[in-house]
Amino acid sequence: MKTSLIITALTTFILLPASLAMTPEDERSEPVVLSTEEALTEWHKVFKVFSHPRCTNCHVPEDHRPRWSGPSFGLSEGEWAYHGMNISSGETRDGQDSIPCSACHAESNSELPHGPPGAPHWKLAPVEMIWWDQSSAQICAQIKDPARNGGRTLQDVADHIAHDALVHWGWEPGPGREPAPYSVAATVTAFENWAASGAPCPAE
Ligand code: HEC
Ligand code: HEC
Repeated sequence: MKTSLIITALTTFILLPASLAMTPEDERSEPVVLSTEEALTEWHKVFKVFSHPRCTNCHVPEDHRPRWSGPSFGLSEGEWAYHGMNISSGETRDGQDSIPCSACHAESNSELPHGPPGAPHWKLAPVEMIWWDQSSAQICAQIKDPARNGGRTLQDVADHIAHDALVHWGWEPGPGREPAPYSVAATVTAFENWAASGAPCPAE
């Protein structure tokens, strides 16, 4: 009894801090230079993440209306709805001219299914960073264009994926919601390999 308690305490001590300290930074591996074909395979992984409902529901066009899409909303593939309750972000993208997003979206997820998901600074992505209903080629061109990616280099974009709380929410979206594919670290690796290999874009 006593021994098992000590073992439990020890494992908790050893395992917990290690997993908590495991940031994507520690898991990041050196980018690899690949052939164009292999680089396009890496890009395809990135596109699968960027085009996932957990990301596109916020990266929406200038109608300023967050989307509800994906199986957690009881919709089949291809079906979608505007955010319920007629929510609009307005030009500020955070609803401050009507109902602020923060009226419902806290800094962490509601523990109730269909309760508001949460992460710090919950707001829509800027209009020019649109991913909703965009092809792989369109998102690829957008992410490389400093005029439409927040003035970032590709390394800055990789760092944003590695560190940003809204991005990370996509892998911890709260009960009942399917997370984005892969992981933060795997997405950063795929992105960096693609960037190191000349950042080729698919034809469509
Ligand atoms: C009146 C409360 C309320 C307000 C205000 C609100 N939301 Fe929501 N939002 C919700 C709830 C509840 C859900 C989850 C619904 C569900 O899971 O069925 C949600 C879900 C979402 C989702 C979908 C997340 C996913 O599962 O992919 C996005 C995106 C979103 N909100 C963005 C916003 C933005 C941006 C604003 C501000 C412009 C905002 N919301 C304002 C209540 C609100
Ligand atoms: C709650 C809304 C929200 C969600 C969900 C969200 N984003 Fe964003 N995203 C933003 C905002 C706001 C910005 C602008 C941040 C900035 O420029 O500093 C942004 C910007 C970005 C950028 C910067 C470069 C660019 O051109 O877009 C990347 C990369 C990004 N998001 C990745 C993701 C990924 C990957 C996911 C899903 C796993 C995701 N985001 C989900 C709101 C969101």
